[in-house]
Amino acid sequence: MVKPIKSVDEFLLIRESSNYADVSVGFVPTMGALHEGHLSLIRKSKEDNDITVVSIFVNPTQFNDKSDFENYPTNIDDDIAKLNEEKVDFLFLPNHEDIYIDNYNYTVSENDFSNELCGEYRKGHFDAVLTIVMKLLNIVKANVAYFGEKDFQQYLLIKGMAEAFFIDTEIVSVKTEREKDGLALSSRNIRLSGAEREKATIFPKLLSSNKSCSQIESELIENGFKVDYIKEFDGRRFGAVHVGSVRLIDNVKI
Ligand code: PAJ
Repeated sequence: MVKPIKSVDEFLLIRESSNYADVSVGFVPTMGALHEGHLSLIRKSKEDNDITVVSIFVNPTQFNDKSDFENYPTNIDDDIAKLNEEKVDFLFLPNHEDIYIDNYNYTVSENDFSNELCGEYRKGHFDAVLTIVMKLLNIVKANVAYFGEKDFQQYLLIKGMAEAFFIDTEIVSVKTEREKDGLALSSRNIRLSGAEREKATIFPKLLSSNKSCSQIESELIENGFKVDYIKEFDGRRFGAVHVGSVRLIDNVKI
């Protein structure tokens, strides 16, 4: 059975104990509502390491939209059952007071790429992500931490932060898990109505087509999507759209 650990002090004791001595530790940070995308990261960590640590913390500072935070799906019992099935060793479930010991007065800030793509539409989002990930990496002190290509901009920024601050954890990416119809798995997908879910498949289809970004944007708008951006960067095409009240992001290699 996975061992849930709710305080930072308790986690530090685990780290100092024999459990952690001379083994390789893999770490998968999440916000819960676990799906096959998260599980693919966990399976990669299990394959590569002796011990796997998963964290679940719905980080309030990275939500720009209060209602998105309030409506973020949580189901800790289901999550624990899934982690048990995957034979995860430790579940870190930190409480807010422990993590934000500084009241979020100290932050990690990136001045360039964090303002592009999603950063243009979600002010402060990536600084909040970098700050929580820095805290988690420093507490867990894993050999390797795994991040999904689904959030490729997040992965690149975290990798850059780890290099910039000489963090002793290797940052590894894992490819995007998709539904059979191509929609990237996301905890927010369960908030799509039946009709919205059907419509959502148009997004990955167009994103991976050989049409131009502006053509893709026009066709998405024609189909009733609100488009934040469709842009190419570093050999990938990135997109963010709204279907009803749900924001979907995706990216593909081109
Ligand atoms: P969350 O959205 O829960 O995602 C946790 C990890 O799962 C991230 O690395 C994300 O890229 C990966 N992931 C999500 N959907 C995926 C999919 N369909 N295929 C592959 N990987 C997928 O990302 C966050 O949480 C937070 O920002 C976090 C890094 C935990 C910081 O709070």
